[in-house]
Amino acid sequence: MGNRKNFFGINLRNNFTDLQKKESVYDIFLRRRSVRNFSSRPIESKILRRLLEIVRRSPSAVNKQPYFFYVISGKQKEKFNQVFFKKGFYNAPVVIAGCALENDSWVRKSDNRKFAWVDVIIALTELIMAATSEGIGTCWVASFDLDKAKEILSLPENMEIVSLVVLGYPLKPLTIYRYKKRKKLKDICVINQQPVIS
Ligand SMILES: Cc1cc2nc3c(=O)[nH]c(=O)nc-3n(C[C@H](O)[C@H](O)[C@H](O)COP(=O)(O)O)c2cc1C
Repeated sequence: MGNRKNFFGINLRNNFTDLQKKESVYDIFLRRRSVRNFSSRPIESKILRRLLEIVRRSPSAVNKQPYFFYVISGKQKEKFNQVFFKKGFYNAPVVIAGCALENDSWVRKSDNRKFAWVDVIIALTELIMAATSEGIGTCWVASFDLDKAKEILSLPENMEIVSLVVLGYPLKPLTIYRYKKRKKLKDICVINQQPVIS
């Protein structure tokens, strides 16, 4: 295989330890935060394609891939700004609308639960983490004018917008993030039915 590199420029002979040296996965998780102020710097199309490749490779229940993603930038993004309730999102150069195709979804027999929404959320989460590793700021946006968004995108009947994600270079770089207040681990998790001792 020599030094052959894949789509992402990662040497295929790298094992996980080498990858860890290149960039710590935890570091990326710790840098992610919701960004609501963006610089005007566009996202390079090469980087955007890398992020979309991550979306394409994301896991989905029974590999059904019951989703569709609208990438909105340029003039369409200017128009799309009408859907936002927060001005901070106007400057973001790119927004991605993650849509579920419930009819294509895997259905869990025991409760008839359709998993399309879960699959969309996984794909968007992976996109967000990849974007963070590129120094790109992101924010989930679930609160927006849904009817207006459907109209602008000419959304087909079989699709539901699960969430938007705005992307752009943040005004302040993504440093290791001091988390907003979170619940204590003991309040959200048990280990073998036993409370977590902090
Ligand atoms: C599903 C989802 C929907 C969200 N929708 C919005 C939104 O509409 N507007 C907004 O400003 N932030 C939105 N957020 C961002 C959350 O407010 C944010 O993740 C949370 O306060 C924790 O802050 P952090 O992301 O900086 O760690 C959303 C987050 C999630 C996960």
